[in-house]
Amino acid sequence: MSNVVIVGTQWGDEGKGKVVDLLASGADLVVRFQGGNNAGHTLVVNGEQTICHIIPSGILHEGKRCLIGNGLVVDPEVLLDEIKTLTEKGISISPETLSLSEKAHLIMPYHKAIDLAREAAKGKDKLGTTGRGIGPCYEDKVGRTGIRVIDLTEPETLEEKIRYNLKEKNFYLTEFLNAEPLEFQPIFDQYISMAETLRLYITDVSLEIDRAIRTGEKVLFEGAQGTHLDIDHGTYPFVTSSNPVSGTVCSGAGVGPDKLHHIIGIVKAYTTRVGAGPFVTELLDETGDYIQKRGSEFGATTGRRRRCGWLDLVMVRDSVRYNGLSSLSITKLDVLTGLEELKICSGYELKGRRIESRPASLKRLAQCTPIYEELPAWQEDISSARKIDQLPDKTRAYLKRIEEITETPLSIISVGPKREQTIVLKDLF
Ligand code: GDP
Ligand code: IMO
Ligand code: MG
Repeated sequence: MSNVVIVGTQWGDEGKGKVVDLLASGADLVVRFQGGNNAGHTLVVNGEQTICHIIPSGILHEGKRCLIGNGLVVDPEVLLDEIKTLTEKGISISPETLSLSEKAHLIMPYHKAIDLAREAAKGKDKLGTTGRGIGPCYEDKVGRTGIRVIDLTEPETLEEKIRYNLKEKNFYLTEFLNAEPLEFQPIFDQYISMAETLRLYITDVSLEIDRAIRTGEKVLFEGAQGTHLDIDHGTYPFVTSSNPVSGTVCSGAGVGPDKLHHIIGIVKAYTTRVGAGPFVTELLDETGDYIQKRGSEFGATTGRRRRCGWLDLVMVRDSVRYNGLSSLSITKLDVLTGLEELKICSGYELKGRRIESRPASLKRLAQCTPIYEELPAWQEDISSARKIDQLPDKTRAYLKRIEEITETPLSIISVGPKREQTIVLKDLF
């Protein structure tokens, strides 16, 4: 198989970064296609942890090219910081190894200010965004007033666009959100200064991918967030402002669907969610606490405690359909070791009837209760297993049930955060 797509099947933080890092060894290019630095993808290599927010998670592999596609919203300050941090760690980053699409949209200081002020104004009804300006930046993209990476290379265009936007944003910030206005000059100066370094990385990502594919190179597409944070298919409005589903590779990186050969859905062995919104299988008891602690479930971007619950296969089954998943990768299976009971949600009950897919209405969703299957729990440490037959029978039974209920084969099983703590069932490249 030549080109592989990795997406999250839940509410993000499924362990996409780890799997991307693992599979990157077989790829030539690693490409992000949506989202921004709301993502936090953790890689653990040689005992050292690295968190990628905007740079693709293939960056730790020497000689691989990492591309930031047009579908992203990019905070240039964060990107430059990330380049600096990685360089200080001894990872070589240059225009040979990293490219930034000329068509990606730029997160501006007013996007962050609006994101934060809106959340503050909503009080207890806040969405729990990451506060990185993601939503407001995508709004400007769709509203056709956004500022793109290419504008960094044309100071007059940049000036005109910042001035135009600031008029409207400052009115909104001061008159509606009760927040401070922003000044033109410091923003313009900062962006012009950042442009000096960033311009070296600017490219046409679609052309670069096309050239690579034509010469037989292999591409790994790295999704951010998760299917149920999708602006269309997620638990709206408790979602992000992009489409984390696999189809977005086409619009967000400029490639045709015929170039996508295998789509992997990453499934955490239980469910987590950071931020507000409905969560049918949430555990507000000591089992939830146990999973949260054992899984170190704190956000990689904001440090917030993640809410935890049983594995919800209604969500995963919906994800199989939305993404056209070829296989599933189960992560954090080791976290379930030591539980006294183990449950898996295979359907929802709504007004006395079983339903197999999540309703669009949040009111109806709030009336749904999970239908659980109980499975035998295991006590053995599984973190050193490297082959499927090294797992206890009960663990294998849990995996088998996931395969059956989702009607999708498993390809990779992760039993710890380190690159090598992995059981590979199928060679994907
Ligand atoms: P992503 O956003 O999908 O890349 O996931 P995050 O990096 O935000 O969160 C996943 C967390 O789980 C990180 O701290 C990883 O190091 C860790 N992790 C990934 N796979 C495993 C696993 O199989 N077992 C354990 N215990 N931790 C894992
Ligand atoms: P990765 O790629 C988990 C959540 C936020 C919030 C909602 C909207 O690491 O899996 P936003 O700032 O995007 O407008 O916030 O989406 N969220 C994530 N949750 N993992 C992520 O990314 C997320 N990116 C956004 O917590 O609930
Ligand atoms: Mg994350």
